[in-house]
Amino acid sequence: MNPTGVRIAPSLLSADFARLGEEVTAVIAAGADLIHFDVMDNHYVPNLTVGPLVCQAIKPYAVSGAATIPIDVHLMVKPVDAIVPMFAQAGASIISFHPEASEHVDRTIQLIRASGCKAGLVFNPATPLIHLDHVLEQLDLVLIMSVNPGFGGQSFIESALRKIEAVRKRIDATGKDIWLEVDGGVKADNARRICSAGADTLVAGSAVFSGGRYAEAIGSIREQARLGQQARA
Ligand code: DX5
Ligand code: ZN
Repeated sequence: MNPTGVRIAPSLLSADFARLGEEVTAVIAAGADLIHFDVMDNHYVPNLTVGPLVCQAIKPYAVSGAATIPIDVHLMVKPVDAIVPMFAQAGASIISFHPEASEHVDRTIQLIRASGCKAGLVFNPATPLIHLDHVLEQLDLVLIMSVNPGFGGQSFIESALRKIEAVRKRIDATGKDIWLEVDGGVKADNARRICSAGADTLVAGSAVFSGGRYAEAIGSIREQARLGQQARA
């Protein structure tokens, strides 16, 4: 992890899709710790984005010197199992999915891990944390949505903060290094509260890409996140 202890994952959803490779290079140079890759199927969510071919195409750009920058694939796809091996093959490091999109959540987690990727489970604003029962210890990451999935640029839903606190407690009780990621409406002006609630990984799409000054945007989110983490310590 970077020295501030918070991972920043720019979401390519707000990038210039005509220059995706350059955009990946630019956000990594600006300090991105992960590349967040949103996959939408116009079925589970009302939008259609990109698939494994595009993941494979950006993979060579997801590097920083000799180091690999993980591609954090967020699947908003139903059903999900058939697409998992395709993204593993295409270079994903982390694959996250929504419990509503799988008939057998435990099986999908096993499938992701067997394909060599880290596994994440994603919670929509109205999805109860009960889905963590029985599977939390098998997960590498829990992703709390702070917007309803489907589009970039939506406003942060405040009730996510209480949920983040609840997940933080559950993760801490396991004693395991399970990441707590938050996605949707994350900006410099709420990153502090999000991290003081317990998040350690922040997805930011429009906040990073819309102003065109990536290092500045990532830097100010990171600084606020650091203050939030300090408040917890
Ligand atoms: C929404 C996606 C998010 C989105 C975030 O369904 O999962 O990753 O790109 O965009 P912002 O940060 O603009 O809310
Ligand atoms: Zn996402």
